[in-house]
Amino acid sequence: MSKPSLLIDTDPGVDDALAILMAHAHADVSGLTIAAGNVGLGHTVRNARTLVDLVGAPTPIFAGCPTPLVRMPEEDAVHVHGADGLGDVGFAEPKAVASAEHAVQAILRLTREQPGLTLVALGPLTNLALAVRLDPGLPQRVKRLVIMGGAVTGLGNTGKIPAEFNIGFDPEAAHVVFEAFPAFDLVDWEVVLRHAFTDEEFDGWLAAGDERARFFEQVFRTARAFNLKRGRRGVIAADALAMAVAIDPGMVTRSESRHVAVEMDGRLTRGATVVDWTDRLGQPANARIVMEVDQARFGAMVRRALGA
Ligand code: BDR
Ligand code: CA
Repeated sequence: MSKPSLLIDTDPGVDDALAILMAHAHADVSGLTIAAGNVGLGHTVRNARTLVDLVGAPTPIFAGCPTPLVRMPEEDAVHVHGADGLGDVGFAEPKAVASAEHAVQAILRLTREQPGLTLVALGPLTNLALAVRLDPGLPQRVKRLVIMGGAVTGLGNTGKIPAEFNIGFDPEAAHVVFEAFPAFDLVDWEVVLRHAFTDEEFDGWLAAGDERARFFEQVFRTARAFNLKRGRRGVIAADALAMAVAIDPGMVTRSESRHVAVEMDGRLTRGATVVDWTDRLGQPANARIVMEVDQARFGAMVRRALGA
């Protein structure tokens, strides 16, 4: 497996944190462009800086849009990730600094300077939507786009039943991106639930790992307690699964290529990802929907990223 070069748009966030650790363990990271989502932009930028300190890499960080494109979000994910987005551990002020360049400008510049980057979107798609509106040539310059988002049969995880958080936070942005990119990999919430780790194996990695494992064990406590309360089994790692697919596309063992659109209006369905499973509209498939991955390969990548 050759080392891919990644540009990561993210709203860290606990599972974003694990994905960022994986990226630095297995790939070259050209930058982190930061979205608002799980928590406000001030926190997500600071969390990215904390993570860059932890991995000790010179990864540039670019702050992006503080709000969705059109409507203010109905919910954040403080109840999952903690008020600061990283489990309210109380980390010291990070040393890494964010660049003065806006995330949207950085996406355009870096993809021009480094054609063939893989874009990995782990948060609401606000920054990517603005970037592709500013420069419609963006999709042609990147090797792949991998998106963590959506719920392809309507089993979402937000107050709008069929909507997944990243898409539901900024449906207009997701609509722009889904229309503008002719081909992307979609790692939805439902495939994430099918690829949870057992608590036993994950705790084993945390116990055997290095300072990255100790960091993750701390930041994960809030999200873990939330998942338990919700009756969710095992360790669910949404952004980590998308990152694994970005790093190693060969780990996908089953996928479905379909046209996927985003609902922007529905009273009960705003933010839903609507999949044309039976090709009723005859539109070209834009999404390769990841259905199954090699769980052992996924686990090995996470384990190594924790230093275990
Ligand atoms: C997605 O929403 C966020 O809370 C997670 O970081 C992940 O990107 C899962 O729905
Ligand atoms: Ca995220």
